[in-house]
Amino acid sequence: MPPPSIPDYPAVLASRRAELRAQLAPRLTGVRTLTLEIGCGHGHFLTAYAAAHPDRRCLGLDIANDRIARALRKRDRARLANLDFVHADADDLLSALPEEISLSQVFVLFPDPWPKRRHHKNRLMQPEFLSRLAARCAPNAGLYFRTDYAPYFAEASSVVHEHYDWSLSADTPWPFEHVTVFQARAEAHESLVALRRPGVVSAAG
Ligand SMILES: C[S@@+](CC[C@H](N)C(=O)[O-])C[C@H]1O[C@@H](n2cnc3c(N)ncnc32)[C@H](O)[C@@H]1O
Repeated sequence: MPPPSIPDYPAVLASRRAELRAQLAPRLTGVRTLTLEIGCGHGHFLTAYAAAHPDRRCLGLDIANDRIARALRKRDRARLANLDFVHADADDLLSALPEEISLSQVFVLFPDPWPKRRHHKNRLMQPEFLSRLAARCAPNAGLYFRTDYAPYFAEASSVVHEHYDWSLSADTPWPFEHVTVFQARAEAHESLVALRRPGVVSAAG
């Protein structure tokens, strides 16, 4: 639902996405395959991941501008040419990503849990979002989800399990460990790995 305070929401959204598309295109020239982290915060995880995987192009995104500013400073200090961070919402990013790019790994680490029932609709891991994500993923791309909020883990597992485009993969190991800011604060966490089924992507979203 569009925020009621914005009268012409579709136009605002279209212009925001066009701006993001223009911002991303020159920064991703020549890229065909991308590792994405949604809600990267200050970029600790993806900076370590990019340093350990110099052959992979990595992009982190977050809706908090100050966190992206810090992540970019971290990237610059580490002198990592294969890493970028952008201030963007996840849906906007999927819509603005250049068409020729497909996602090979997607990390969603400690996303906002939205514990109140009336806020569950704000959770990222929903069927429509998983469809939009799958549409931008390469066959067998990995989705790596981790949370310390058990009810969200249960819901995400069930949503992924029932989704046509994804299959839960208990056999696929977690590909890379680096403690995130929210992970360091958590007493425990659970992780889920899903693979993007090759074949037709569902129509939702
Ligand atoms: C709980 S924090 C976790 C940050 C980091 N992943 C960690 O583990 O330390 C969730 C992050 O997701 C970001 N976020 C929430 N909704 C988002 C969205 N729709 N698109 C991109 N980032 C989002 C928030 O701004 C916040 O930085």
